[in-house]
Amino acid sequence: MCGIIGILGRTPVAPLLVDALKRLEYRGYDSAGIATLEDGHLDRLRAEGKLRNLDLKLAGSPRFGLAGIGHTRWATHGAPTERNAHPHATERLAVVHNGIIENFRELRLEMEAAGRTFSSDTDTEVIAHLVTVNLAAGMAPRDAVQAVLGRLTGAFSLAFLFEGEGDLLIGARRGSPLAIGWGDGEMFLGSDAIALGPFTDEITYLNDGDWVVLTRSSAEIYDEAGNPVSRPLTQLHGTTHVVDKGNHRHFMVKEVHEQPEVVGHTVAHYLDLVNGSAKVPAGIDFAAIDRLSITACGTAFYAGFVAKYWFERYARLPVDIDIASEFRYREQPLSKDGLSIVISQSGETADTLASLRYAKGEGQKIAAIVNVRESTIAREADFVLPTLAGPEIGVASTKAFTAQLSVLAATAVAAGKARGVLSGDEEHALVRALSEVPRLMHEALKLEDQIEALARDLAKVKHCLYLGRGTSYPIALEGALKLKEISYIHAEGYAAGELKHGPIALIDEDMPVVVIAPFDHIFEKTVSNMQEVAARGGRIILITDRKGAEAAAMDTMATIILPEMPASVTALVYTIPVQLLAYHTAVFMGTDVDQPRNLAKSVTVE
Ligand code: AGP
Repeated sequence: MCGIIGILGRTPVAPLLVDALKRLEYRGYDSAGIATLEDGHLDRLRAEGKLRNLDLKLAGSPRFGLAGIGHTRWATHGAPTERNAHPHATERLAVVHNGIIENFRELRLEMEAAGRTFSSDTDTEVIAHLVTVNLAAGMAPRDAVQAVLGRLTGAFSLAFLFEGEGDLLIGARRGSPLAIGWGDGEMFLGSDAIALGPFTDEITYLNDGDWVVLTRSSAEIYDEAGNPVSRPLTQLHGTTHVVDKGNHRHFMVKEVHEQPEVVGHTVAHYLDLVNGSAKVPAGIDFAAIDRLSITACGTAFYAGFVAKYWFERYARLPVDIDIASEFRYREQPLSKDGLSIVISQSGETADTLASLRYAKGEGQKIAAIVNVRESTIAREADFVLPTLAGPEIGVASTKAFTAQLSVLAATAVAAGKARGVLSGDEEHALVRALSEVPRLMHEALKLEDQIEALARDLAKVKHCLYLGRGTSYPIALEGALKLKEISYIHAEGYAAGELKHGPIALIDEDMPVVVIAPFDHIFEKTVSNMQEVAARGGRIILITDRKGAEAAAMDTMATIILPEMPASVTALVYTIPVQLLAYHTAVFMGTDVDQPRNLAKSVTVE
């Protein structure tokens, strides 16, 4: 994830900007830069690689400006080079950006047609030109920025610095966190409390859609519609050096809300969003294998289960999946030179590590999808495909799960391309769909109030059934796991088509059934399952889209309506409501959401 810092200071800000960026290194990056106002004029300093390279440049060319912005970049659009490093600038402003601008191509064409010249491959630069054109038309900075925000599609956070405006910073947040730090005659903007902690212990987190106009003595916050709003002041207590909960009650719900940002970075790391194509990860030769084995535990296994559908559908590659505790003892015959994928957030799970070693012993190449790069599983794998979720503190895995799905989805597209079974148009369509996931997740998160109200009723039940078909089936399994592991309510996930083969005997008014069903080619099959449930007094919680809600046309306990989206990405987005449902149910139950009883974040024993 990229890191953002902005300072309106009383002393030279350049070294402070770099120090703040160093505190954001945990988010991962591959280039960095700052922009300051030197006698009112914008002056940039950028460097590829680690911050020490920027430090060296700054030592050789010190800056004394009292206003500035800084950025650590994790390459999304465009290679990790100095020319693509932020801040991006024009003659009127500099901007730093975290996230994805989905419609940057059309906007860039518009700007080039207007005579603007681009100097990078990034999506970010188009924002700088759009605001500049508005300024040139006579708009004030705040109006110029607000007008551009309304034209951007995607999930992002932004910070702007303007030529000649030594007491002005503008920030904006949509899907990626951004906070204000209140100083004494100074003002700060940052991605999180860790960046701002050493400057202040008074933080205001912007809400999604908010934008803010800062001077050294004021912070005017506006909502997406431009209405002035106020947001609570959070007092920081010694959290400046650890991952903090922000203004969330638990780490789990903070991490649920980080998913648009995390998925955006993970997807963009594995895809070439400029050209709409997939990049073969880590040099794996998918054309050379005829079967794929995937093994993991718990939530990570469900990510692999979803991926089975994707690899088989988009890469025409047969996939064997197995939970690691079975795989490691079953002595499955594996083809020499085949490929095994192991998935693990911690990279230390004993059963998964043992499965890796078994597969390696059978002559398989090992690809590890891990969130901890220096973990044991990463070290023993032949290929490492990192998830870019950042530290996941909640024991219940959320952002790591959708980051795993993001890696797997991008890899399945790359495999299809490498095996010559995906046309260029099909590849572009799949890549485009994945680039829209952060925004779709952001829309799904807006349903939280409805889901919280539903959770109040769910907290009264003792049992719950989750049903799904296709890639919604593993999401049903994941939804059931989330509910049982943090609320302690017994829950089971089932393939919807299996209902009549036994589980329907459980159905009565005390057994709510969560049905995960986007409107797709098999939707009407699931409708008949729901009618079977309703006919026996069962209560249904339907998670679908508008067409699905219309087609179902039946009374439900609740119907959660998500945006319509390509079938290839429903598993990623439909995860959000099942995570929120489990979380809010557990909150009503009063359980220890972040450290549920009997559970550990990483099961390093058998
Ligand atoms: C998921 O919410 C659980 N915490 C658990 O199932 C977890 O996914 C499993 O233990 C695997 O952990 P890993 O991803 O670190 O290997």
